[in-house]
Amino acid sequence: MKIGLFYGSTTCYTEIAAEKIQQVFGDEIVELNNIKDVSLAQTADYDFLIFGISTWDYGELQEDWESHWQELAEIDLTNKIIALYGMGDQIGYTEWFQDALGMLHNVTVEQGAHTIGYWPNQGYEFDASKALTEDESQFVGLALDEDNQYEQSEQRINQWCQQVLEEIAEIIS
Ligand SMILES: Cc1cc2nc3c(=O)[nH]c(=O)nc-3n(C[C@H](O)[C@H](O)[C@H](O)COP(=O)(O)O)c2cc1C
Repeated sequence: MKIGLFYGSTTCYTEIAAEKIQQVFGDEIVELNNIKDVSLAQTADYDFLIFGISTWDYGELQEDWESHWQELAEIDLTNKIIALYGMGDQIGYTEWFQDALGMLHNVTVEQGAHTIGYWPNQGYEFDASKALTEDESQFVGLALDEDNQYEQSEQRINQWCQQVLEEIAEIIS
């Protein structure tokens, strides 16, 4: 099994999380792709994908994802299994926490992807987020906060990777 992990990262936090996720799955399984350097057309090489994004500037997309947004709206993600993770700051930007994760989730669903890896929203404090499921019980992907909860990130990543593996196993069985 190969998983293509595509991420955009302005100050390297999403990139460091990508490397940790790769370590957990193993580098024979997860291939890292910084979208600053690669085309999203390369998602076609994988059945399983992980997308990583940070939120910037009061609920805006990370800049490399923003530059690929049009391309993303044109790629076919039907039959792809996609898990998402996001980086945000729940105290500094409490009204826009992880908004870009929610925007990326919406577009992947619109492009036909089957999304997995939803994550409970307990243990966070924020006023609003576009990254919540409709019933507001979960984030639509793993929510990491290196600004305020960096000590929890490793455990969250380990647990989430395990969850993603179990969800994939269920789908392909
Ligand atoms: C100027 C600025 C604006 C930000 N805006 C938001 C925001 O609107 N929502 C949020 O959840 N986090 C916001 N953040 C926090 C970043 O998402 C967080 O620092 C993240 O770890 C950056 O990841 P990256 O270095 O991979 O891009 C902001 C950070 C900065 C410095």
